[in-house]
Amino acid sequence: MRSLRESCGCESVETRSGALKSGIMRLLVLLLVVLSCHGCPDRCLCSSQTVKCQNQDLDNIPRSLPSNTKILFVTGNNISRLTVDSFPNSLEMLTDLYLSGNELESVGEMVFDNLPNLVRLDLSNNKFQAFSDRAFPDDNKLQMLNLSKSFHDNSSVEVVLNVLQSGKLLMLKVLDLSNNNFLILPEDTFRSLSNLVNLSLQNSSIISIQNGTLKVPPLHDLDLRDNSLKYLSTTALAEFDLKPGLRIWLAGNPWRCDCIIEDMLMWLKNSSQVVDVHNLTCTDPEALRRRRLLQVEPSKLKCSGDMEGVLETSYVFLGLVLALIGLIFLLVLYLNRKGIKRWMYNIRDACRDHMEGYHYRYEINSDPRLANLSINSDV
Ligand SMILES: *[C@@H]1O[C@H](CO)[C@@H](O)[C@H](O)[C@H]1NC(C)=O
Ligand SMILES: *[C@@H]1O[C@H](CO)[C@@H](O)[C@H](O)[C@H]1NC(C)=O
Ligand SMILES: *[C@@H]1O[C@H](CO)[C@@H](O)[C@H](O)[C@H]1NC(C)=O
Ligand SMILES: *[C@@H]1O[C@H](CO)[C@@H](O)[C@H](O)[C@H]1NC(C)=O
Ligand SMILES: *[C@@H]1O[C@H](CO)[C@@H](O)[C@H](O)[C@H]1NC(C)=O
Ligand SMILES: *[C@@H]1O[C@H](CO)[C@@H](O)[C@H](O)[C@H]1NC(C)=O
Ligand SMILES: *[C@@H]1O[C@H](CO)[C@@H](O)[C@H](O)[C@H]1NC(C)=O
Ligand SMILES: *[C@@H]1O[C@H](CO)[C@@H](O)[C@H](O)[C@H]1NC(C)=O
Repeated sequence: MRSLRESCGCESVETRSGALKSGIMRLLVLLLVVLSCHGCPDRCLCSSQTVKCQNQDLDNIPRSLPSNTKILFVTGNNISRLTVDSFPNSLEMLTDLYLSGNELESVGEMVFDNLPNLVRLDLSNNKFQAFSDRAFPDDNKLQMLNLSKSFHDNSSVEVVLNVLQSGKLLMLKVLDLSNNNFLILPEDTFRSLSNLVNLSLQNSSIISIQNGTLKVPPLHDLDLRDNSLKYLSTTALAEFDLKPGLRIWLAGNPWRCDCIIEDMLMWLKNSSQVVDVHNLTCTDPEALRRRRLLQVEPSKLKCSGDMEGVLETSYVFLGLVLALIGLIFLLVLYLNRKGIKRWMYNIRDACRDHMEGYHYRYEINSDPRLANLSINSDV
């Protein structure tokens, strides 16, 4: 009797053994104790309609939860899977379920079928490797789903797709997918989330936004901070433009400030959607590292692929080589100045001799007397 009372942690009913005379009395009291205890399970704390079973090494969701529970915390325990038996009784009033930090690996079919009014579900800090697309009932009312740091590294994308593409999360408004390791999310990831307004993909190793990925949801807040984005494609920017009230966070990405980012820079300067636009900095190239994107001159956005730089250096090199050759030539001339002088004189002399020869002959040829003489002598 005493141990039952303590384990329930409920108000005690005075049960002095002296007062218990008849067996009926004994039974009545037992009944009373059981009734007043009903609901608050072992190792949990209950207050009004909130039940907290935190950091207790539980390996299952506690069985006998009060049927009027509205908010349930079963966080920081050691529950590896949720199955159809995890919530065996209907909890009609449950709206908030927190299952963060439980080493959860799998969610089976129909797990949440007994929680028809669930609005907020926190599954963060787990290690999902499997998530049934039939985990939620067709007419669920889920509005907030927290899957921050929820996936086992190498299986993350397929698993999250299973959850999001089930076509059942039609009321979902807030989705937290931060601190995962996605790299790339396929184009149809959010296609069936037609009411999603708040999406966090912060610190999720995203390297690019595919065409169409963010097209469907009527997003209002989009957090893309601390990913691995180097630039945003023109198509992605056009898709953002189609969402009038959208607010985007983009800081903490390794923006690559070459010609490829020109369109995005123009867009940033003109758009009012990026909340932290003044906090975007270049990572590449080295010369522009840590420079604020908005303060980079468009003329500084060089294409790393083009030949400009290479050509520049080769021109300089060519100039140097030519200068060197010229210098050597001058040096050779200078060293040989005597020889050259002599050579010039020789040429001059040779020329003179030659010219004089001509001159002489010309004179002979042009003198009629001498001409006759020469003709005669020829004969
Ligand atoms: C958690 O549960 C697993 C088995 O599911 C067990 O091997 C492990 O020791 C448990 N960890 C703690 C801290 O209780
Ligand atoms: C999701 O859970 C994480 C940690 O468990 C928390 O920091 C974050 O604020 C939650 N996200 C939302 C949208 O409540
Ligand atoms: C994920 O990694 C584990 C070991 O870390 C490995 O056993 C498993 O095959 C991997 N799964 C996939 C889909 O790569
Ligand atoms: C980013 O996410 C990883 C898990 O993918 C986590 O280990 C790390 O602590 C997160 N970083 C921050 C700053 O939250
Ligand atoms: C939506 O996201 C913004 C920015 O991350 C946050 O401030 C706001 O509280 C979120 N709203 C809800 C309902 O979670
Ligand atoms: C994205 O759209 C642009 C322009 O509409 C197109 O050129 C590009 O090939 C598309 N990329 C993919 C991966 O479909
Ligand atoms: C700037 O934005 C306005 C609407 O906000 C748009 O009409 C205009 O075409 C944009 N200009 C450029 C150069 O993108
Ligand atoms: C920009 O960064 C600073 C320092 O990291 C931070 O305090 C500030 O809140 C950021 N601004 C926005 C709009 O995120």
